Amino acid sequence: MSEPVDRLPQTRVSYESPTFDDPGPVPLDLFRKWYDEAAEYIREPNAMTVSTLDEWGPSSRIVLLKGVDASGFVFFTNFDSAKGRQLRADPRVALNFPWHDMERQVRIRGLAEVTAAEESDAYFAQRPRGSQIAATVSNQSQPVGDRMQMQAEYDAAAARFEGREVPRPDNWGGFRVRVFEIEFWQGQRNRFHDRWVFRRSGGSQEPAPLSHASAWTPTRLYP
Ligand SMILES: Cc1cc2nc3c(=O)[nH]c(=O)nc-3n(C[C@H](O)[C@H](O)[C@H](O)COP(=O)(O)O)c2cc1C
Repeated sequence: MSEPVDRLPQTRVSYESPTFDDPGPVPLDLFRKWYDEAAEYIREPNAMTVSTLDEWGPSSRIVLLKGVDASGFVFFTNFDSAKGRQLRADPRVALNFPWHDMERQVRIRGLAEVTAAEESDAYFAQRPRGSQIAATVSNQSQPVGDRMQMQAEYDAAAARFEGREVPRPDNWGGFRVRVFEIEFWQGQRNRFHDRWVFRRSGGSQEPAPLSHASAWTPTRLYP
């Protein structure tokens, strides 16, 4: 049980993890290992914060990771949403996996690019039909009058697509975050945590495959 909001200064959890001394040479291997450990423990380990930029500054929201491999981290969204427009105008992006029940977080910086249409088609086809219909009618991030209007639009689309496949809307699909920096954080006693950041060898901010050890230099940071 945690403390109520008026006791924030007294709210304190001690971290007691084993020390994290060896991140290995390949960030993809470590991410996959930590992800699988999180999957045993955490309800939605694929929920991650995505931070984007516009002329007013940064903005964050949670989305679900739907794929990871050497080329980066993939999520799906509406390209005309606030994040979709921001990423198409400025691909600089940060991700954060807040696995605090495991005393861990993974922080990522990179550049977002729209996935190939076939990749978006393949994932859209796997979604439950109700989610496909909702994606068709949701003008994500635009104002809407009330729930009744949303439901009426959903019902009309459900009737329109009755008996046939729901096509992927042109403005819905994936972004792949290609990575130039990834940090693994493990909580420790006395707030003296372990941090290992993989940066591009030679100080580059060019994204690189997460499986190529030669592209990355792991560095320990003070907490
Ligand atoms: C657990 C969780 C998972 C979510 N997953 C997604 C997702 O995969 N894609 C998405 O577009 N929005 C997802 N959302 C909603 C976003 O957080 C956000 O409200 C929405 O995308 C609009 O963001 P924007 O106006 O900044 O574009 C999720 C929210 C939560 C809390």
